[in-house]
Amino acid sequence: MMLRKLLLTPTSRRALSNGFFFSSRNPTPSPPLPPAPWRSLGSPLFFSTSEQAEGEPSNSASSTISIDRSGLYNPPEHSHEQSSDSELVKHLKGIIKFRGGPISVAEYMEEVLTNPKAGFYINRDVFGAQGDFITSPEVSQMFGEMVGVWAMCLWEQMGQPKDVNLVELGPGRGTLMADLLHGASKFKNFTESLHVHMVECSPALQQLQRKTLKCIDKADTSENAENAESSVISTLAGNPVSWHASLEQVPSGLPTIIIAHEFYDALPVHQFQKASRGWCEKMVDVQEDSSFRFVLSPQPTPSNLYLLKRFKWAAPEEIANLEQVEVCPKGMDLTQKISKIISAYGGGALIIDYGLNGVVSESLQAIRKHKFVDILDDPGSADLSAYVDFPAIKYSAEEVSEDVSVYGPMTQSQFLSALGINFRVEALLQNCTDEQAESLRTGYWRLVGDGEAPFWEGPDDQVPIGMGTRYLAMAIVNKKQGVPVPFQ
Ligand SMILES: C[S@@+](CC[C@H](N)C(=O)[O-])C[C@H]1O[C@@H](n2cnc3c(N)ncnc32)[C@H](O)[C@@H]1O
Repeated sequence: MMLRKLLLTPTSRRALSNGFFFSSRNPTPSPPLPPAPWRSLGSPLFFSTSEQAEGEPSNSASSTISIDRSGLYNPPEHSHEQSSDSELVKHLKGIIKFRGGPISVAEYMEEVLTNPKAGFYINRDVFGAQGDFITSPEVSQMFGEMVGVWAMCLWEQMGQPKDVNLVELGPGRGTLMADLLHGASKFKNFTESLHVHMVECSPALQQLQRKTLKCIDKADTSENAENAESSVISTLAGNPVSWHASLEQVPSGLPTIIIAHEFYDALPVHQFQKASRGWCEKMVDVQEDSSFRFVLSPQPTPSNLYLLKRFKWAAPEEIANLEQVEVCPKGMDLTQKISKIISAYGGGALIIDYGLNGVVSESLQAIRKHKFVDILDDPGSADLSAYVDFPAIKYSAEEVSEDVSVYGPMTQSQFLSALGINFRVEALLQNCTDEQAESLRTGYWRLVGDGEAPFWEGPDDQVPIGMGTRYLAMAIVNKKQGVPVPFQ
């Protein structure tokens, strides 16, 4: 099985306080309805049953409507049994019941992750050893610092603008941004230009980010107080910080640097499967025992348009042998918004995620407490994520603007190494405790290494897994700025 997020975290992250060096190199009664409309994957789920429509005379053949209802979710109306379903499970079953049929995997994924009341990300901290998975910024401060080096190099190429929107999509605990700002705090011209915008759907994580960035409310007594962009300041480097539920809400008009680390993988994917009747969409339904199951659409759905679009960007030989395909329309749309901003105001975007430099077949996974679990099991209690289709990002960006260029993807290992992470780890090792040194070396290896750590002597189930080649980096920049570091 392909590993994705880091499932275990045997080492703790310890921050070292020195600032970083600068490196210049990273959706009528009529004739009979079609029989057996939905089919399960592999085996038929529905028996072709003809039922009489409610309210119609039983002896009138012409008024009989043939309806296959066997697969629709129809719980007993007078059951006195207490349901042990969570609020989210009730909500999902409600949608399926109300629609009278299954929902797409994408809609399921979106509800599971970001339902405003009970989504996986909404009410809690899911990161770290006590959470469900760990991400690069939580592994080592060096990750955020290196992204800071990239941002600063880009800012130089942008002509050192005095005011810049620094936008992070899905900032988690806020660790990456904190390390970026802290690491860059000595480079005043750069940090003073930054207006920090955190795009985060989770109120709980917004609060956590506020703490991580050591934010204070700034008392603005000026006449312009009502018009002030943000009265929240991060004391790490003195930057105004504001929070938004989506990229559209970030005020426009300034050159913009956008960071998306492990954000695209959380965007909902549609799954398709090749069938004798063509490409059918995989959907989520409720079966008679009230558990969820996958079914296939009987005919193309509106989302097939995105599948066709993706196929146009692929070589015929790439798709010839595919039996399953995932597409992420939200990722394509987001990329086009990013591309328009960069094109209009200058700047660039850095996208780092685990994914493929090609069409993604089937990658959707669920992780709970550092273990892979069934995607349909207890939704809302496990993270869902999918591999990022990097070429789809590239073609989406280029489709909407001729003023942007897309570079990469390159591996995370290449990206961090070219930015000088090896020099950074050496510098940090000069001034640290033995415990910190071990943590630094392990953290460094996890960020740039590949496979299982060869040096690991601890418990087998905690062996560090390298993220160096599974994670890829891609940049979208305004053409006028030239080739971004380190994609030259
Ligand atoms: C996998 S986590 C990555 C966190 C962080 N970037 C890191 O690397 O540690 C995904 C983040 O995106 C946020 N998120 C997911 N879907 C979102 C959406 N549609 N809009 C805004 N934030 C979203 C989650 O709340 C979480 O902060």
